[in-house]
Amino acid sequence: MTKIGLIGLGTIGSGVVKILKENKTLITARTGTTIELKRVCDLDEKRAEMLGIRGIYSQNYKDLLNDPDISTIVEVIGGYEPARTIIIEAIRAKKNVVTANKAVIAKHGEEIFKAAEDNNVSIMFEAAVGGCIPIIKAIRESFAADKINRIYGILNGTTNYILTKMEEGLSYDQALKQAQELGFAEANPSFDVDGLDSAQKLKILSSLAFNAKIKDDILTWGITKINKSDIKYAKDLGYTIKLLAIAKEIDDEIELRVHPTMIPQTHELANIKNESNAIYLVGNNIDKAMLYGKGAGSMPTATVVVGDIIDIAKSSSITNYYSEEKKLKDINTITCRYYLRPNVLDKPGVFAMIADILGKNNISISGVSQKELGKDIVPITIITHNVRESDMMQAVDQINKLDVVKSKTVVIRIEDI
Ligand SMILES: NC(=O)c1ccc[n+]([C@@H]2O[C@H](COP(=O)([O-])OP(=O)(O)OC[C@H]3O[C@@H](n4cnc5c(N)ncnc54)[C@H](OP(=O)(O)O)[C@@H]3O)[C@@H](O)[C@H]2O)c1
Repeated sequence: MTKIGLIGLGTIGSGVVKILKENKTLITARTGTTIELKRVCDLDEKRAEMLGIRGIYSQNYKDLLNDPDISTIVEVIGGYEPARTIIIEAIRAKKNVVTANKAVIAKHGEEIFKAAEDNNVSIMFEAAVGGCIPIIKAIRESFAADKINRIYGILNGTTNYILTKMEEGLSYDQALKQAQELGFAEANPSFDVDGLDSAQKLKILSSLAFNAKIKDDILTWGITKINKSDIKYAKDLGYTIKLLAIAKEIDDEIELRVHPTMIPQTHELANIKNESNAIYLVGNNIDKAMLYGKGAGSMPTATVVVGDIIDIAKSSSITNYYSEEKKLKDINTITCRYYLRPNVLDKPGVFAMIADILGKNNISISGVSQKELGKDIVPITIITHNVRESDMMQAVDQINKLDVVKSKTVVIRIEDI
């Protein structure tokens, strides 16, 4: 019998309570282990009452940590603090910890894993990336015999939903509103739409896949500058725009970035629609593998939280995580093809001015299109050959300063995966 303490009775915590109750017999039959919810904690007692577990409620998390019967603490409150403190205190009290908290693992993972190792307890966090997709297990266990060298992830359901709806014809604002109405986006969506959520998840995945400590910030661009016309131009060129989290390990250097990316329409990731998540791995032996599924939601996510609890109960968890210091590639030195869309005054010589700037910054153009819209301000779409990031950023800065350029140039990197 494994006795657990659950902290946080919100979306995920309430799902954990339901699964432990409804699937109790199934879990015992499948695992040979009984899991008992010994105590729960939340800021609001009413949540425990609504779940029919008022009798095991406590408002102070320390009551759970001080209970000698409890061997595993489940933290599903989210955020940095007090989640970090609770996790560290739980570990020091010799409790195993299960968390779904990407923020705390991305920022404080090293401290937490070290504490777990020192105290000989497990820390499990499958639900922190990709909701119910067992990507942590795939990297840590199933593919442990391979060297993963590339990760391409659609790690945020909100932005994937918005981009899918924009492909279907909605504007960014309409798609965001729809996502909010359906509960896929927060009232303040910036954490998702600015790419920060994906960046936290990418840090966790790349740390595990490359066995690396990643402390620095990574290049993170969101989707707010993409408009319907970019989606259409991409489609005409045979591409789909996705908010892609990209990690590569090349010659002991790690390249990490999150940004809207044009990928070929024929690629498996291009068909990941709506709020779904997917992670595409490339390894020396496995070649390519893609995991796909619901990246959020109470019951899907709570299922893998309970899966972590079961792993601990069966003593099949892993304690030592990433350890090596590895060099993060200077983002200015990466090279890729780019899509550019400056909106310019429709008059002779404008394209020549832009082409001149590109040429002077070592950028060669592979394709250009300018639609005749009969308006004063028109978009020019430009596709480049492989270009160094620093050259491109310098050129874009110079293009944006031209009087004839009327709004900031939209820049989308192209990955021919
Ligand atoms: N929702 C998803 O689909 C999903 C998917 C994957 C991972 N996750 C992760 O799972 C975690 C939980 O997410 P969630 O959606 O379940 O959040 P949530 O619905 O906001 O639930 C969090 C619960 O914890 C309570 N809480 C906050 N601070 C507390 C404290 N100091 N002590 C005790 N209880 C406290 C909250 O109470 P108040 O509401 O009163 O603050 C709330 O009831 C997060 O780390 C999130 O990133 C969520």
